[in-house]
Amino acid sequence: MNQDELKQAVARAALDHILPHLESDMILGIGTGSTANCFIDALAEVKYRFDGAVASSEASAERLKSHGIPVYDLNTVSELRFYIDGADEANEHLHLIKGGGAALTREKIVAAVAKEFICIADESKLVDVLGAFPLPVEVIPMARSHVGRELVKLGGDPVYREGVVTDNGNIILDVWNMNILNPVEMEQAINQITGVVTNGLFAMRPANALLLGTVGGVKTLT
Ligand code: A5P
Repeated sequence: MNQDELKQAVARAALDHILPHLESDMILGIGTGSTANCFIDALAEVKYRFDGAVASSEASAERLKSHGIPVYDLNTVSELRFYIDGADEANEHLHLIKGGGAALTREKIVAAVAKEFICIADESKLVDVLGAFPLPVEVIPMARSHVGRELVKLGGDPVYREGVVTDNGNIILDVWNMNILNPVEMEQAINQITGVVTNGLFAMRPANALLLGTVGGVKTLT
């Protein structure tokens, strides 16, 4: 199985996971990235069994709409039973690094609202220690240099992601060489820096289940 096939397999496993719970008035939280795209495409097959979705990015909203799935503003929704999204790295505690696609802030907001966050990824994303993948940090543009200096004090090497503006009008710093042994503390410390909107660590609100596509089949970590 190649990586695309693993993503498709894990997307289908996530669909199987939520299928018994779907209700006609249910709204789902949907993430961003190539694995989330596989899920959106699979979800289209059962679009008459739920009401619609809240998307974590404009790109995912467009993909959902192209399948005829209604997309809602999160402020009009009182409950999200499930949030399904990918990750750039995950550890066995279901702490994640996300934001490779620059959608981390909206992803974090949707995850905060959702009752159950199901993370879907191929097995290459599972690591012992988070941080080999550069940690994305969304920053208010005028604070870029200040935040960069503060991130260096925390032990990282921040790199400005050239040419990228988030859906919220901000910039991304990718922080290299972080050996993240305490993800909760690191998530909090970075969020304390003035000018940071949020960072791509999902440790204070980890996933509830991690579905991993492996050559031997889909493994579930909870
Ligand atoms: C988007 O900002 C990210 O958090 C994605 O969830 C993450 O980059 C995973 O993307 P892939 O599924 O494309 O690997």
